[in-house]
Amino acid sequence: MTKPVAIVTRKWPKENEDRLKELFDVTLNESDKPFTADELKSALQNCDVLMPTVTDKITADILSVENRRAKMIGNFGVGFNHIDIAKAKELGITVSNTPSVLTDCTADIAMSLLLMAARRVGEGERELRAENWTGWRPTHLLGTKVTGKKLGIIGFGRIGQAVAKRAHFGFDMDILYWDPYDIPSDVTKKFSATKLDTIEDICEESDFVSINCPATKETLHLMNEERFKLMKKTAFVINTARGDIIDEKALVQALVNKEIAGAGLDVFETEPNLPNELKTMENVVSFPHLGSATIETRLAMGNTAIENTLAFFAGTDLPNKVV
Ligand code: DGY
Repeated sequence: MTKPVAIVTRKWPKENEDRLKELFDVTLNESDKPFTADELKSALQNCDVLMPTVTDKITADILSVENRRAKMIGNFGVGFNHIDIAKAKELGITVSNTPSVLTDCTADIAMSLLLMAARRVGEGERELRAENWTGWRPTHLLGTKVTGKKLGIIGFGRIGQAVAKRAHFGFDMDILYWDPYDIPSDVTKKFSATKLDTIEDICEESDFVSINCPATKETLHLMNEERFKLMKKTAFVINTARGDIIDEKALVQALVNKEIAGAGLDVFETEPNLPNELKTMENVVSFPHLGSATIETRLAMGNTAIENTLAFFAGTDLPNKVV
């Protein structure tokens, strides 16, 4: 039987790539250089399945390329805001993603950002590396206590709940959340989580606001100037979802004007570029999109993308079909 032709846009962990070679007639990307728009178009003309990542902007124009051969996009990642899903659906292209396998690691990164921002860990490490530490003193690098504080979670899905679990059981935090969907009461009871009516309520009441919703038209710039102004001056915003859920200009203004105490960010509006302030302000902790970056999780993401693709070509139900 001939193997489906697959094109993979970025380097995957070796174990995943070995499996791809066994199962598909695959072209890997040894250089790991992101594809240009033209390269993405050409890939769609020359494969049965394209296996992209968050760094590939797959627009309606790209999907509409003439003489497209690809019938499936097996995304390596849970978020699919980089793919024009409506167009894919219209053209009958199946799209899959890799949910669940990155929930814990992304929640771990949210807690790392929260703790680092609150306890000024980055500042301390920078001071020590610069050999500026003069020793212990009662007023040195005083941060904000985390235990027992209020954590407002915007988007109470898999990752939001995993953040709640860590914060509630590990740090005795009070969990507030906002989500457009009803969350089963057994879940909310588990974390003693309280639903607030509006995002504004979350902003006003929380000591930490964690963004855990998907990037959609509705969540674009969900955290804006008005909402930052509602936050406590002592509060922090944490984002491990997608950069454009926060209006970065408004965030920088809120930080400069000291309307909030700080930020912990793993994602940015135009990655890998970010405003200078978010790289240099002492009260901002920024990570280079590390949410799912563990070997265990990345292998699981690759395997999930492979399982989806195998199901597609076997004509069976996809474990994780987007459209
Ligand atoms: C995801 O899976 O969406 C991560 O952000 C990497 O793409």
